[in-house]
Amino acid sequence: MVKTVRVQVPPSASNLIEAAKEASKKAYAPYSNNKVGASVLTENNKIYTGSNIENASYSLTICAERTAIFNAVLDGQRKIDILVVYDEKTIYPCGACLQVLSEFSDNPLIILADKKGVVFYRLKDLLPKPFTHFSKT
Ligand code: THU
Repeated sequence: MVKTVRVQVPPSASNLIEAAKEASKKAYAPYSNNKVGASVLTENNKIYTGSNIENASYSLTICAERTAIFNAVLDGQRKIDILVVYDEKTIYPCGACLQVLSEFSDNPLIILADKKGVVFYRLKDLLPKPFTHFSKT
C-alpha cells in the first residue's frame, strides 16, 4: 500500500508545477474535455512541458506526460529527474507514460498536482517493474 500525504510545495518545485498548470491550458481535449498539463525537469535543470492532444480517432490521443517527455528528448535531454502532472483533480499517469518515463529516468520524483495541492511519489511506487529490453539488464 503506497502512502500519500498532502504537503507544502517545496519552492524549487513551484516553477515546475506552475509550468504544468500553464501547459494544461494548451491541451487539445474536445472529446474528453479533460485538460491535462505536464512538465519535466531534466538533470541539467531545463523545463519542458506538454499537454494532452486528442484525436477524432480516439486511440491516437497522446497524454500530456508523453508530450512533455518527448519534447525534452527532442531537445537532446535524456535524463528526467522530476515529472509533474497537473489536472483539476488529481490523476495518476497511465502505464504507457510511466513506461516511457522509465526509459529516460532513474526513479524520478513524480508530483501530482491539482487545484488543491500536490502529492509526491517515486516512479518505482507507481511502476515497480517496468519492461526493460533484455540487452539492458
Ligand atoms: N490523459 C493524460 O493526458 N494523462 C494521463 O495521465 C491520463 C489521461 C488524457 C488522455 C485523454 O486526452 C484524456 O486525458 C482522457 O481523460
